[in-house]
Amino acid sequence: MKLFHAFITILLCIAALTAQSRTLDEIKKDGKIIIATEGAYPPFNYFQGSKLTGFEVELGDAVAKKMGLAVEWKSLTFDALLAGLRQDRWDVVMASFGITEERSKAVGFTSPHYCSGGVIVSKDPAIRTAESLRDKVVAVQTGSTYFESVKKLPGVKEVKNFPQDIDARSALINGRVDAWVSDLFAVKIALETNPGAGLKMGRFLFVERIAAAIKKGNPTLTAAYDKALAELMTDGTYKNLSEKYFKGDIRCL
Ligand code: ARG
Repeated sequence: MKLFHAFITILLCIAALTAQSRTLDEIKKDGKIIIATEGAYPPFNYFQGSKLTGFEVELGDAVAKKMGLAVEWKSLTFDALLAGLRQDRWDVVMASFGITEERSKAVGFTSPHYCSGGVIVSKDPAIRTAESLRDKVVAVQTGSTYFESVKKLPGVKEVKNFPQDIDARSALINGRVDAWVSDLFAVKIALETNPGAGLKMGRFLFVERIAAAIKKGNPTLTAAYDKALAELMTDGTYKNLSEKYFKGDIRCL
């Protein structure tokens, strides 16, 4: 009996390890692709009332439409997204993930859908550069490239983690931290929507290419996604969307 149990356990482990993400054909048969995002990262993915929207959500809808698919959106906490992808709980993640070496070990990335970077924000005009973060308390979103980057800076007093980027932003607005590091475009929105808060944008800490993530070993899905995105980039759809949200074209050059 014990042997039998061990045998079943081994079988289950093998099944889990070899679990396959849905192929393009399987998704096509189903008619809808499942895309997971966070929904708390304006202007890229956020809720307007009960409606999930934003640049990435509209772009994801357009990519799926080009692929002849409907989308089922799911929204989860940022740090649960890539893990769920690896467990085949969704087909794609679109949540402003920068392509990093570390992440590329765990998941595959599509072609980038925009280029941006992490910038320093503070109320103190003297805090603008990496060097000026010395002895300071800096707020960042948990699991983000901002966290990774600030962690490596010498002399920073404390890196405060927040599950949502908007909470890291609030911590700065409320004066609980000295600085906040986030995406250039997320910061621009924050400055616009909080004109009285006295936030000032400093320098870039790094630049990054942002892409959708697809489970490793799913070449047909990745190729179809990339083809659809490339078409949107030439037929004017991408440009219109980018103009709508950013008053400019934010594609990678
Ligand atoms: N670009 C940053 C990164 O790659 C932050 C992404 C945050 N995305 C979000 N949906 N909150 O880590």
